Order: sequence, then structure tokens, then C-alpha cells
Amino acid sequence: MSVEHEIENLLHEQRRFAPSKDFVASAVAKPELYEKAKADRLEFWADQARKLHWHKPFTQTLDWSDAPFAKWFHDGELNVSYNCIDRHVEAGWGKRVALFFEGEPGDRKVYTYLDLLKEVKKAANVLIKLGIEPGDRVAIYMPMIPEAIIAMQAVARVGAVHSVVFGGFSADSLASRIQDAGAKLVITADGGYRKGKASALKPAVDEALANGNCPSVENVLVVKRCGNEVDWDKNRDLWWEEEMAVADAEHVAQGFNAEHPLFILYTSGTTGKPKGILHTTGGYLTQASYTHKNVFDLHEGQDVYWCTADIGWITGHSYVAYGPLANGATQVIYEGTPDSPDWGRWWDIVQKYSVTILYTAPTAIRSFMKLGRTVVSHYDLSSIRVLGSVGEPINPEAWMWYREVIGSNNAPIVDTWWQTETGAIMISPLPGITQAKPGSAQVPLPGIEIKILDDDGHPVDKGHGGLLAITEPWPSMLRGIWGDPERFKETYWSKFEGIYFAGDGAKFDEDGDIWLLGRVDDVMNVSGHRLSTAEIESALVSHAYVAEAAVVGAKDETTGQAVVAFVILKRSALDGLGSEADTSKILREHVAKEIGPIAKPRTIFVVAELPKTRSGKIMRRLLRDVAEDRPIGDVTTLADTSVMDTISGRMSQGASD
Ligand code: PRX
Repeated sequence: MSVEHEIENLLHEQRRFAPSKDFVASAVAKPELYEKAKADRLEFWADQARKLHWHKPFTQTLDWSDAPFAKWFHDGELNVSYNCIDRHVEAGWGKRVALFFEGEPGDRKVYTYLDLLKEVKKAANVLIKLGIEPGDRVAIYMPMIPEAIIAMQAVARVGAVHSVVFGGFSADSLASRIQDAGAKLVITADGGYRKGKASALKPAVDEALANGNCPSVENVLVVKRCGNEVDWDKNRDLWWEEEMAVADAEHVAQGFNAEHPLFILYTSGTTGKPKGILHTTGGYLTQASYTHKNVFDLHEGQDVYWCTADIGWITGHSYVAYGPLANGATQVIYEGTPDSPDWGRWWDIVQKYSVTILYTAPTAIRSFMKLGRTVVSHYDLSSIRVLGSVGEPINPEAWMWYREVIGSNNAPIVDTWWQTETGAIMISPLPGITQAKPGSAQVPLPGIEIKILDDDGHPVDKGHGGLLAITEPWPSMLRGIWGDPERFKETYWSKFEGIYFAGDGAKFDEDGDIWLLGRVDDVMNVSGHRLSTAEIESALVSHAYVAEAAVVGAKDETTGQAVVAFVILKRSALDGLGSEADTSKILREHVAKEIGPIAKPRTIFVVAELPKTRSGKIMRRLLRDVAEDRPIGDVTTLADTSVMDTISGRMSQGASD
């Protein structure tokens, strides 16, 4: 089926699922939210912001005079960690569970809000003792354990800026992020449990810092999670547990300006260099908490919320470390993989903790769907009452499976569209209001202004498609790219004057609901994770064998897209090489080492030439045709039109990884 055809079919989706009467009656979000936001958008956001605790109240909601650099609530002062923890304890909720931690080996730990407060205060004092001051950067490279959240909260509490690097990234990726941010401290663990084994993390930190490679780093704070042997630099390394044991218990959270930086999170763009997306405090926390409460229908004190994202991604920031805690939610965090010890693990967790709200990615849903219903049927999932999806378009088939099998044909599904840059959810149904439609993210949230524009910047109507754009500033918007204001303007604000260009294609159906159609740039989305074609290409050409490389994202049934690479090998390398399979293995490992295992190409094709235009630009569109096994599109703009015959001829003879 052609892509256009598939989309057309989607747009004629007839199924609608209204929330039940009971759900509507007790829903957190009421239709008035839309009305209020429409009547006075800025006042609506100011109202949301006032739900936080302000050390000094703000008087101005938005200053957009230096667009695209926004300032929200900027004469106010607040402390993010105080909002996430102290105020709940002060309100008498100290005994409420904040975190149910489930380790992969089966160990469990429970933190009440009071426990969390004690830990975060001590951790803040450890940071201060290590000389961390407001504005200093701290890199966090950790498994999904409570200490990761405690570390993030402690960094926020003292007004420092964290840069969490996903534990699956390589030493090289970690080093470049530490260097770019100029991090003074790295917080890590000896290892974490994954797939039934201890997987070491500290060696990657040692490698990243070796030979004075990251001169800004003064200390490394190491949580003992697995007890694996680690190398130790006694002038630099400290055990978290030892420092916490002697840390002062009291710490008074001070207010910081609402535009004080909170974190940097690196994400792939269209060049080889990841962008450090910068978020600040007041606007970010306002929108993270507002969306978390309304989109997931959070009834604090009753619900048990579980978001399966790792803290290494934006979802793990906004919907694990900040939004839920700001709302006083009780949440589950799980360290390991869904298949350990078997594919029943997640459902066992849902049953064990009576999870009521589950937020995960379509890739995971499709993986379970492939296994069939039997695995799930052994568990009692009747506690679930809201389901969320994030990271990539969810196909209607997976949506229906999610609803029927996980949600007992009853729980509303919220398909949430947003990005690292947007900081919080932007497009989503509201569970007690919207008639849900399988596969569509549907409508902008109250307070958010979205348009779909054609290439000339004209808004398109119902039934038409174009580029997704955000036409008004929003509180949790990125405030820039760390150290690169020009790239910030160029990437997001130059396509359409004064309007944020998201990089996604989208279409309105006849009802005016929004369908996301994937990226329109050279960014791939693999299992809901953003990867850059340019970054993987530069990793490939850094190998001695490779003369040239082109990478495309090809459609994949489970992961949404998969990385497919086309490489030209150097003549000098050809003699020394074994089979194509060996070469492919070596190159895949090389990419894993350079970037991380998530970036490993699924398939590597060794080719003699790449399709290029006369000006030398690689035509990825044609390579995508090959990778997705489709007839090759228009080749007339190629410098050498026979190249595609050679490539596709070779593919049909069965080149593979
Ligand atoms: O293409 C969109 C896709 O993920 C991109 C953002 O990736 P990242 O910054 O890593 O954040 C992922 C988690 C928020 C978007 O540009 N995307 C995200 N959510 C959806 C989505 N595509 C379709 N539907 C979604 N619900």
C-alpha cells in the first residue's frame, strides 16, 4: 500500500470512544478549561502557574519582546524541588508514597514524600559541599533508580543545572555532552541491572574523562547499585552512600528566578552535533504539572501512576522527575527491561502496585501485541483506568490492542504529541472530554495554539496536510540551545517568521483532528527515540574502512523506524575484509561504541556508489525506497541516473546485514 493510501485510510477512521459517564463525572479536566484558555490565554497560564508555590509571586505572565527568547513569569521566584516535595510534606502528605521502586532483580524500595524530602535535602548538601553553585552544570549518567530522581531534584534544589545523559549512550557521547555543557560534576552508578545482568556504567565515565578529556569535571559521585568492581580515582571519585551518610540533614530551599535554568537535555538534530535543549524553571514546571494532572486525570492520593520512560529522555524528566512530583502523585519506577525475566514483567508490576495510569510508547505496545494476548492474560490489569502513548505515531491497530487488552476496553487512551523542545504535552485528547479516535493525537491542549501550514506558511484547512507549527509561545518552551543562540533561531524560527516549526508533518482530518505524520527532516524516530542521520553517518565514516555513508530511517513494524545504512568502503580496506556480514557486524559495533547501542543500524548495505544530485547532495528519498523495498521514485535529478539501477539490483540479490 502506498504511503498516501495508508494516510487516506487513517483519515477515514470511523471509530470513536467516548469516556464513560462515571469517568466524565469525576474527571479532573472539565470543558471549561478550553473556554477559559480561549477567553484569555495568558491569564489561563497565569492561573496554572499560581497553583505552584512561589517564593516571590510574579506580576508579569509573558515577556515576548526578545522573541524567540521567551520569558514567562519572569519577575517571580520559585524553587522547583520545594514545589515537588517540601510543600506536599508541609501540607500533611508526608506519609504518602512518592516512589515505588522496583529493581530488575526484584528488590523493592518505597519512598514517601517525607523520605524523599530527607534524601533530597542531604543530596543538596552533598552538592554544596562539592562546591556546586547556582548555574553550575551537573551531568547525570545513571540507571533508572531512585537516586537518579533524588540527584535531579537535588541539583534543581540548589539552583544548579542538570544534563542527564541516557545510560545507554557511549563514553564518547557522554564526553561530548559533558564538554559542551562544561559540567563540573558527574553523578553516576557503578552499574544498573538490565536483562538479568549488572551492566557497568562507571567504566564509561572513566573513559569519557580519561586523559584530561573533560577538564571541567572536578568530581564523580558514584551510587553503589550492583557492587561490581570499579576503578577508582581517589582525587576525583566519591561514593554517594558515604557522602550521604555524613551530609547535613537540613537544607532550606531558596527561591530562584522563574527564568533560572533548570536543565539541558541533548537531542539529535539534522547535523552531526546533538543540540543541548535548555529549559528553565517557572514555565516548565507550570506546564509539566498542568498537563500531567489534566491529561492523565490524576487524582492524587488515589492514583498509582507509572510512566515507563527512562530519565535519560524528556518524558522521564517531565513525566517522572518533575510533573508527577509537583502534583503529589504516587508513582512506580522500574529499573529494567520489559522482558526480564520474561515478557510478563510489566504486567506483574501493574498488578503488584495496582497501577491506575500507564504511560508508554507505541513501540512497546507493538512488541507486546506481537506476542499475543496470552502473556498479558495471566495478570490482573483491572486497576488501569487511563492509558497514555508518546514518542511516535500510534497506528490504529496498536491503539485498539492497547485499549482492548491493556485497558479492558474501557480506559481512555491519550495519545500525546510533544517534543524535547516543547518540554511538555502540546496535543492530546483530554480523557474525560474528548471522544477518542484511534491513531490521532486529535487536539491542541487548552492554552496551546497549533496550526498546520503549507510550505509558504499559509494555514491549511480540514482535510489538508502540511507542516506542524506552534503559533504562540507556551510556558514550557525551550529557551534556547545551550551555547548556540543562532542555531536555535535557525532551526526553529526561520522557516516561518515568528512561528515555531516543529519538524513534523501533520494533517487535519474532516473533523479537524490532527494526525501526526512523522518527521519532515533528517531526524529518525526509532522506538520513540530521536536519532540523527548525520550523526550516524559521521560515526560510520570515522571508521577506517568507510569512505562514505548515507543513513535513512526505514519503516519498521515494531520500532516505527529502523536505521538503515548504505556505505562505500575504502579501496585500501577491501583486501583486509572478511565477508559482508563480518564487515556489517564490525560497523554496527563501531556505531554502538561511538554513539550507543540504540543507534546501531539494523541493516548495512555495502554499495559502490551513492545516489547524488549534480550538486553532490545525497538523495535519501531514493535510498528510503530501497530500504523499504518499494519501487524507486523519480531519479531524473541524479547526476548519474544509473546509480540506482546498480544499488537496487544488488539489493534484490539479497544483500543484508
Ligand atoms: O516526531 C515527533 C515524535 O517525536 C518527536 C519528538 O521526539 P523527542 O524530542 O525525542 O520527544 C519524544 C517524547 C515527547 C516529535 O517531533 N512524537 C512524539 N510524540 C508523538 C510523536 N509523533 C506522533 N505522535 C505522538 N504522540
